[in-house]
Amino acid sequence: MTKTLIIGCDHGGLALKIALKPRLEELGLEVRDLGTHTAESCDYPNIAKEVCKAVLEEESALGLLICGTGLGMSMTANRFEGIRAAVCTNEYMARMARAHNNANVLCLGERTTGPGLAQSVLEAFLEAQFEGGRHLRRINLMDQ
Ligand code: RB5
Repeated sequence: MTKTLIIGCDHGGLALKIALKPRLEELGLEVRDLGTHTAESCDYPNIAKEVCKAVLEEESALGLLICGTGLGMSMTANRFEGIRAAVCTNEYMARMARAHNNANVLCLGERTTGPGLAQSVLEAFLEAQFEGGRHLRRINLMDQ
């Protein structure tokens, strides 16, 4: 399982981030929380950018971005070359995002995914392994 998880949220994802954090620590992950830390309204692209830069700096790190829907975070994150961010609303999507797409950032929506399901989605994402092979060829085609 990946050891470093770099996390971030906007005000729309703060409560879910707070709900998930104890489980992340229980799993023995090194969690780096880049904010936001208050309920004050803020702009999700700024947080997404910081998390993506940090993920790109550390080869085996994964990212977790949470906003109201996960959508704005994923749109911002996917502008970075080398970031493959996936909004996942169930465990199957999370498993496939890693196994077939080698996603390195999981995006969750606090307003779309309850905390229990979000935790299962996150665990499925963390446990899954990239299968490589034809999936690597397809990922490489994304940037050609
Ligand atoms: C904030 O209200 C909301 O727009 C944001 O959290 C996110 O859902 C954007 O995609």
